Amino acid sequence: MAHVGLVGIGVMGREFALNLAENGHTVSLLDRDIEKSREVVSAGSALKGELIACADEKTFVEGMVAPRSVLVLVPSGGPLDSVIESLTPLLDQGDLIADLGNSYYKETERRVTACEAAGLQFLGMGISGGAEGARNGPSIMAGGSQESWARIKGPLRDAAAKFEGEPCCDWFGPGGAGHFIKMLHNGIEYADMQMIAEAYGIMRDGWGMEAAAIGDVFAGWMDGPLNSYLVEIAAEVARATDPETRKPMLDVILDRAGQKGTGRWSVIEALHLGAPASMMQAAVEARNISADLEGRRESALLFGAAPEGRFDRAQKDQDDALKSALKHLESAMIAAKVCAYTQGFEVLRRASEAFDWSLDLAAIARVWRAGCIIRSVLLDDISAAFEEDVTRKLSHAPKFTELLNDNAEGLKLVVAQSVTGGLETPALYAALSYHNASRTQHSTANMIQGLRDRFGAHRFERVDAHGELVNGPWHER
Ligand code: 6PG
Repeated sequence: MAHVGLVGIGVMGREFALNLAENGHTVSLLDRDIEKSREVVSAGSALKGELIACADEKTFVEGMVAPRSVLVLVPSGGPLDSVIESLTPLLDQGDLIADLGNSYYKETERRVTACEAAGLQFLGMGISGGAEGARNGPSIMAGGSQESWARIKGPLRDAAAKFEGEPCCDWFGPGGAGHFIKMLHNGIEYADMQMIAEAYGIMRDGWGMEAAAIGDVFAGWMDGPLNSYLVEIAAEVARATDPETRKPMLDVILDRAGQKGTGRWSVIEALHLGAPASMMQAAVEARNISADLEGRRESALLFGAAPEGRFDRAQKDQDDALKSALKHLESAMIAAKVCAYTQGFEVLRRASEAFDWSLDLAAIARVWRAGCIIRSVLLDDISAAFEEDVTRKLSHAPKFTELLNDNAEGLKLVVAQSVTGGLETPALYAALSYHNASRTQHSTANMIQGLRDRFGAHRFERVDAHGELVNGPWHER
């Protein structure tokens, strides 16, 4: 009899099933195409646990130890709802369905309610790390009832990535909390990737560097605070050669970015919550603009193509000048990364307050230390910063204040040079703008308030009368 059932033998499902079997678990497998399940059974035949290919829902359900735990790894939306619909009549009261896809958290909340009404339990679980992570240890973010979590956490902790022996796998709150956290993980992932792409653009278009040399710069960043999975694979991507043309791989990849929606949802949710998320927004917008390849080509004909030219080429050709420019770029990336994390965790804090989730920000940083796409050396320091004082904004924790203070000048220089050189660096720009705006003591919002009151009598607070809302003299005519 199986301890766990797994539905959906796509790339992620296949790898996760093998991971569970490697950790000694017996898993029933179900897919519309039984050949896919059979292939996994044979791929996993030497592993500790047993994999069982099931021909239909009935055999699948009957082959599991009760109360049953079913992990579903199918595309979110319609396919997931069909799986729930087909299993519900066969499952017993108290059985558990866990969705391991990238579902929208409000849909997860709807499914929790619907399953509970049918006597079943439902967990919404974000898993990160791609196919490699699914096989070797992903990061897992669960939400739903704590009782269901207690039931399934054993096998999941076995399969999860480990950071210094600690599983990167936790339960964070009721309803859609797990999927909300995974969504925000992806929002930060978007910002991280956009910053890396902008750094690549500065080196390629600003300083005329070849892809392989750019790869070497990324590899060099692995020795400092930028050490992260995404920077590591950026080095690999930049250094790779196309086997067909022998050109750098980056030169044969079309510059049109895809997206499945989690980054966009993060931005929309942040806007709803009133939490600044300008770096994620810049990243989503950049992907949107990149997608309009035809439009960009037409505009280039009308307005001249950007970037308009290499900045400071003659000077940058000199080794020392390039070295110092690269130092500034690394600084800019460090400062921007602190801003991206600060924004990301503030969105989580707002969500926790708005939805009454009591999210543990330190624990979220802990499960992101290994296995997930945004894993980086800074996440251990982030968890320590929140353990020390969870009420404090991340950039106000001493380690991060220092990182920002030490590197803000580099961010300013890089953004200024990019703007005047005609290069697009929206995420780095958003970081600088956020850093500047969030430390402005005397902002220009007094003008906004004056205008709101002038046209709509919305009233404003006076600096010399705390809390009282008054109208301006323009209403005394
Ligand atoms: C992960 C990834 C994963 C997936 C993204 C890609 O954490 O393992 O984030 O969930 O690769 O959904 O998203 P886009 O297709 O929107 O870039």
